[in-house]
Amino acid sequence: MPPSAPDPVHAEPPSTAATAAVLLRLEGISKRFPGVLALDGVSLEVRRGEVHAVCGENGAGKSTLMKVISGQYPPDAGTLHYRGEVCQFRSPADSEAAGIAIIHQELNLVPHLSVAENIFLAREPRKGWLIDRAALRRNAQHCLDRLGLDIAPDVLVKTLSVAQQQMVEIAKALSLNAQVLIMDEPTSSLTESETEKLFAIIHELKRAGVGIVYISHRLDELAQIVDRVTVLRDGRYVSTDRFADTTVEQIVAKMVGRSLDDVFPRRTSVPTPEVLLRVQGLTRQGAFHNVNFELRRGEILGFAGLMGAGRTEVARAIFGADPIDAGQVMLGEQRLAIHSPRDAVRHGLAYLSEDRKHDGLALKMTVAQNITLANMEAVSNRVGLIRFDKEQVAAARYIKALDIRTPSSSQIVRLLSGGNQQKLVISKWLFRESRVLFFDEPTRGIDVGAKYAIYQLLDELAGQGIGVVMISSELPEIMGMTDRVAVFHEGRLVTVLNTRDTSQEEVMHFASGRSIPSPV
Ligand SMILES: Nc1ncnc2c1ncn2[C@@H]1O[C@H](COP(=O)(O)OP(=O)(O)OP(=O)(O)O)[C@@H](O)[C@H]1O
Ligand SMILES: [Mg+2]
Repeated sequence: MPPSAPDPVHAEPPSTAATAAVLLRLEGISKRFPGVLALDGVSLEVRRGEVHAVCGENGAGKSTLMKVISGQYPPDAGTLHYRGEVCQFRSPADSEAAGIAIIHQELNLVPHLSVAENIFLAREPRKGWLIDRAALRRNAQHCLDRLGLDIAPDVLVKTLSVAQQQMVEIAKALSLNAQVLIMDEPTSSLTESETEKLFAIIHELKRAGVGIVYISHRLDELAQIVDRVTVLRDGRYVSTDRFADTTVEQIVAKMVGRSLDDVFPRRTSVPTPEVLLRVQGLTRQGAFHNVNFELRRGEILGFAGLMGAGRTEVARAIFGADPIDAGQVMLGEQRLAIHSPRDAVRHGLAYLSEDRKHDGLALKMTVAQNITLANMEAVSNRVGLIRFDKEQVAAARYIKALDIRTPSSSQIVRLLSGGNQQKLVISKWLFRESRVLFFDEPTRGIDVGAKYAIYQLLDELAGQGIGVVMISSELPEIMGMTDRVAVFHEGRLVTVLNTRDTSQEEVMHFASGRSIPSPV
């Protein structure tokens, strides 16, 4: 904290001054869903000008607690004090009006409305009865500028990438000028530079006295902004500490109830020299140009690059989800004619999207149905009827392997926590027994323990001879898990490096376009 700003979190004695600084206090909050006690007597206090992190594994109850604060869910027990008074908000609109804004973990924008309309939804500036379009654009532009975003206020939200949508969510929450700002995984799909911008704004808000609740599975970023940290485990309150008095290792140990020694498992698999997938001259105007690479059997190849570098676009094109203008894809000796994801799946390609809500899951179906969705044949009898016993066995296997927290395999997927939904997308494609797997941000929003399990799975898959492409914005995970790394910059595959012989700095160097080899 800069010396000019008073330190409301650490400086005061725990008497009257500290009490006055308390914006929000939750006491003994409990919330039960059918089959799940999501919160069991949880307490939390948010002070003026502090960033208060809430940590816990997937399914620990973090998002539920935030939804209780915002009035989306009424608690079954407990009280909420806001600015010294007992409150119970009846709806998110109610809490918003009182000065509590929330950036949701799962994006909540209206896809067919513009960015400006989304930011000021139901709060549009008016001239008489009519919406004042000019003011709407101007105000939206101001919000976007504040975050340094290069997004036009008029574009439709559905045309934006996940990361851009997340930035719009943030812009929207900031525009409310709230006293309490809740951020549920705000950086999970942001790049480092976007995250830095967000942190600069968080520091600004802190100085202005806003109380911030910050939820993130990226524990290494907490040190930059967090004053205090509360840990939840299995819906129960574990502890609250000043961040300066604890360590990330201690936080993790409290989250998982044991200590984790390593972040990455040792790679046991070794890639074979056999080329499994060969991509040549892949081009789509305006998205990527002349992309060439090879993926070997048993290899984990990383795709690194900044947001908008074209990594997801290339993967989607190979998978047949988007068209190409030129180029070809060879699987072994066979040239693939892929016109749709259905073709790709038939050839044994799989793509695990970063946008699980839209591409990955059937949210209204059960856990078991989702796992078996991409490979119905494996759980059907000869005439195509689904054998529920087989479906259950398959579901049970993956629920155990990935430690998916769900009351049963027949739970509706929409009701799982964000991280557990992500694990489910992965199970679905693992069950498909694919030959080439594209993982787009596989550990986004996933807790440390489960990340480790997913890394182990990647290593196992490679060991079985599957080719794995891992698209990730988290360089440490690329460095920790891949054999080689393909670096993208502005739609071009700039270079492919041996992971063992390179460094994060070198990868960043190429990713930022600072040294592009001259075209041959
Ligand atoms: N509407 C709901 N109906 C039924 N169960 C729910 C509902 N919302 C959450 N749950 C369950 O409550 C528990 C807590 O979920 P919550 O979303 O709060 O976890 P979280 O800590 O935010 O996890 P993550 O890190 O994965 O986002 C989970 O077991 C989840 O499946
Ligand atoms: Mg959550």
